[in-house]
Amino acid sequence: MDAIKTKKDDQIDLTTKHLGYNQLYRFEDGLELRNAFALAPLDLRLALYDGTVSQNDIAFHQIHARQVGLDIVGSAYVQENGRTRAGALSVATDEMIPGLRQLATTIHRQGAKAILQLSHAGIRARPTFGKQLVGPSERYQVQAMDVEQIVALAQSFGEATRRAVQAGFDGVELQGANRFLLQQFVSPITNQRIDDFGGSLENRLRVPLLIARTVLQIAKRCPRPFLVGYRVSPEELSKRGMTVTDTLVLARLLEKMEVDYLSLSLHRYDQVAQTYDGKTPVSQLFTQQLKNLPVMVAGKIETSDDLEKLAQGVSLIATGRATIVNPSWPIQQKKLTSSEIEQGLDAQKLIISSQVRQAITDGLGR
Ligand SMILES: Cc1cc2nc3c(=O)[nH]c(=O)nc-3n(C[C@H](O)[C@H](O)[C@H](O)COP(=O)(O)O)c2cc1C
Repeated sequence: MDAIKTKKDDQIDLTTKHLGYNQLYRFEDGLELRNAFALAPLDLRLALYDGTVSQNDIAFHQIHARQVGLDIVGSAYVQENGRTRAGALSVATDEMIPGLRQLATTIHRQGAKAILQLSHAGIRARPTFGKQLVGPSERYQVQAMDVEQIVALAQSFGEATRRAVQAGFDGVELQGANRFLLQQFVSPITNQRIDDFGGSLENRLRVPLLIARTVLQIAKRCPRPFLVGYRVSPEELSKRGMTVTDTLVLARLLEKMEVDYLSLSLHRYDQVAQTYDGKTPVSQLFTQQLKNLPVMVAGKIETSDDLEKLAQGVSLIATGRATIVNPSWPIQQKKLTSSEIEQGLDAQKLIISSQVRQAITDGLGR
């Protein structure tokens, strides 16, 4: 499978060498990456009907793990009722382990470390799968979770972590971003509970922290280094939404719990914090506040110029669309023209739906 032609594969772009992202990166727990570039978590809807890893998934990661230090496999659901749509990966049962093991092995063979993102879509899950939808609060077709269901949810994240360990992954990332269930608990818009899990910020953070604690406990039992990352969308712009300060508090607590990295899911890497002062870049706020928690940033990082402009202190760079269309991205950091984008996608001979294709090409190269 030919990717679009770039510079020779062993030549990292010299213009950004001084930034150090292309050097060995070492996590506190000893896990080493060959560089600080990550493939952002991407749900490309390539899995089989029941969430089993497909050959299409394997082919995708075989190509895209070639250059990056870390390959974050996008969005594996931990419970059936947390599934977004057909084609999403599952880590909800032990039957998924062999496929996941094949995926982790494929990534390792390319020289990258493998992380599995664990998710529950909550109110964003699809009702078509015949399961009762759940969320922090009751709404159309969605049942408010009771305490038993919250405890079961934490156990499901724990079990999913155990499966990721057994499948040979190097860590898990909790999907606390993109309005998935963990964010739904933090957000005052989707969380209108009046019990211990709603109202004050302390209460709204209880579920994400319970899940992080459960996952960390399982990770600590792993005999080899095993990372636990946490992904956030830092703020909601609608009235009464979650503020960047809410997320900073969460991040500080995760730092205390010794989570291995915090991933910022941004529209643009340099976006400013609207719910703070409207001028400080979000990534700067986080890197300044978190002295012991490595920060990963994603959001339209496409060129060596973008890398130069990143806030000081950003430890890890995640790219999604630029790397999908050009698997040699960390080497060739340039904006692609629309014909190069189409050419890049076609060269990989991936069978992806037109909707996903649109999501990839939207906004790229502009
Ligand atoms: C097709 C597609 C699927 C995505 N799936 C996920 C996902 O499963 N989990 C997640 O946290 N983010 C997901 N994202 C967001 C990306 O990880 C990334 O944050 C976003 O694309 C911005 O980075 P980019 O501009 O480098 O693509 C997805 C994005 C795209 C385009």
